[in-house]
Amino acid sequence: WISEAYKDVELRRNMALTPVESAKKAAACLAVDDYVKDNKIIGIGSGSTIVYAVERLSERVQQENLKLVCIPTSFQARQLILQHNLTLGDLETNPSIDLAIDGADEVDNDLTLIKGGGGCLTQEKIVASCAKEFIVICDQGKDSMILGEKYKKGIPIEVIPMAYVPIRNKIFSRYGGELILRMGKAKAGPVVTDNGNFILDWQFPQVSLDWDHINKELKMIPGVVETGLFVGMATKVFIGRSDGTVKEK
Ligand code: 5RP
Repeated sequence: WISEAYKDVELRRNMALTPVESAKKAAACLAVDDYVKDNKIIGIGSGSTIVYAVERLSERVQQENLKLVCIPTSFQARQLILQHNLTLGDLETNPSIDLAIDGADEVDNDLTLIKGGGGCLTQEKIVASCAKEFIVICDQGKDSMILGEKYKKGIPIEVIPMAYVPIRNKIFSRYGGELILRMGKAKAGPVVTDNGNFILDWQFPQVSLDWDHINKELKMIPGVVETGLFVGMATKVFIGRSDGTVKEK
């Protein structure tokens, strides 16, 4: 169903992409083609890789007349859905989602993820938790053996602003490492999430840890809203390579 003219446009578009962007696009397109069917409610993640998935969704909606409802995980995702003329939904009217697709900052071999590099971890985790299947798309730079091996900024933790210092002290005294309050680009002040909160990036000591236990412990600290540790949530991960091939795990 791809016309020759369309293929040429695609070819040119691909040639303009950097190797990393080609890898992201390959993973995103395969995930959408393998998992998205007609009449589905789909969670839309945040970040740069999800843009390729939304573009592909939009192409398929136009070409195959698919009826999809898209649930955003951030303001950015909401804008993406609207810009691509996809049907916008929410968890109030669609509390149960067929499929959520999202990027990740790192993925280990147990499919434990670090997410939240873009600060959208809380809504991303809520949407993923409402989905029957949670599909992750990323490039090979995110694929690791031990969490923390690739993504050096640490685990993002969304916190209530007035509690960021006590939370920082509690995590440091329990586990060590370094906790950095995420600052905006101009360093004029802290990054404020879509939920009005701050982010602490926890550069944890680099050892193999029980992430499920740590995630639960972190969430017990008053003022912690959510962590960027996604344990036991991903159904499948598509990892794109720059040559356009995709590893699945
Ligand atoms: C945002 C996220 C993103 O999914 C994650 O940072 C990956 O982003 P990208 O696709 O740009 O690499 O968790 O909060």
